[in-house]
Amino acid sequence: MLKNGIQRCLLGAQLMKSFSTSCQADSKVAVLGASGGIGQPLSLLLKESPLISQLALYDIAHTPGVAADLSHIETRANVTGYLGNDQLGDALKGSDVVLIPAGVPRKPGMSRDDLFSTNASIVRDLCKAAAETCPQAMLGIITNPVNSTVPIASEVYKQAGCYDPSKIFGVTTLDVVRANTFVAQAKSLDVSTVNVPVIGGHAGVTIIPLLSQTAPKVSFTEDELPSLTERIQNAGTEVVEAKAGAGSATLSMAFAAARFCFSLLQAINGKEGVVECAFVRSDLTESPYFANPILLGKTGMAKNLGFGELSDFEKQRVEEAMGELKSSIKKGEDFVA
Ligand code: APR
Repeated sequence: MLKNGIQRCLLGAQLMKSFSTSCQADSKVAVLGASGGIGQPLSLLLKESPLISQLALYDIAHTPGVAADLSHIETRANVTGYLGNDQLGDALKGSDVVLIPAGVPRKPGMSRDDLFSTNASIVRDLCKAAAETCPQAMLGIITNPVNSTVPIASEVYKQAGCYDPSKIFGVTTLDVVRANTFVAQAKSLDVSTVNVPVIGGHAGVTIIPLLSQTAPKVSFTEDELPSLTERIQNAGTEVVEAKAGAGSATLSMAFAAARFCFSLLQAINGKEGVVECAFVRSDLTESPYFANPILLGKTGMAKNLGFGELSDFEKQRVEEAMGELKSSIKKGEDFVA
């Protein structure tokens, strides 16, 4: 099982090379929660990138070991471990991108919202430090419930007087990765050619794959639409149940977060036309945050690309998601207030 996981992770690392440009850049990336199930494989994938010159690994446990281990890999990034709150400022100093997977994962029977009581304060405190130390850095929030932790991050930055909504992203890339995989399987397509935009939020019914906008164009039967949509929405729970108490998606989440980070770094370094779905501050719907394709640029979100025309099935899913989205967002905002 573990061997299989590591093999997949290494394969992911190879694939990641295709996400990175061949040119080098001098970017610092900090991973907060770097010793965890997501943090470790994410840090491994980031260590592969020629775009990263400094990789700062922060956690409240085990970072000296993780950093020592990764630092022996013969790639460019200089890896440094930081342990405990006293070292958080040094970990963040000068960062271009800060990725936060710190927090507890789900166990079977739990929703992402059940993590709120523990993870809200972890994200709040880490964001306070980031707002103070590297307010210009792009922030990628992985810690669940993302529908609440992104508003928490935003409120913390507002209180610190350095809020820039174009720099704070909830990482929803895994929803797209899953949608691409499941659609390719269902339609016997080459997965590397498939792209399914996923909009809304990052929990249950708030995850809305736009199957009508699948590229290349694919048609789905009336049965396939709800069953594929539901599988994508429940894919995280599928992993939680299969892991039977040992956590939630870690390897696929690491793959997705690394892809998002490489897209950010490519855009920061001047590559044009880089697009990723992400959960961002938004005025496209009645929900104050919403995920959909975003054009990335040198300073973060260059343009919110919206979500185009929805099918009737998708319009209904968006309507159904609004209640949960808005209440999860309010819960996050109220927590900081
Ligand atoms: N500061 C830094 N790191 C912390 C803190 C903190 N205040 N609190 C916990 N951590 C670290 C833990 O020490 C651990 O190394 O966060 C890591 C979490 O790792 P796991 O328990 O293995 O959880 P993981 O599967 O990585 O998921 C983390 O990401 O996708 C989400 O739902 C998931 O919210 C969960 C989070």
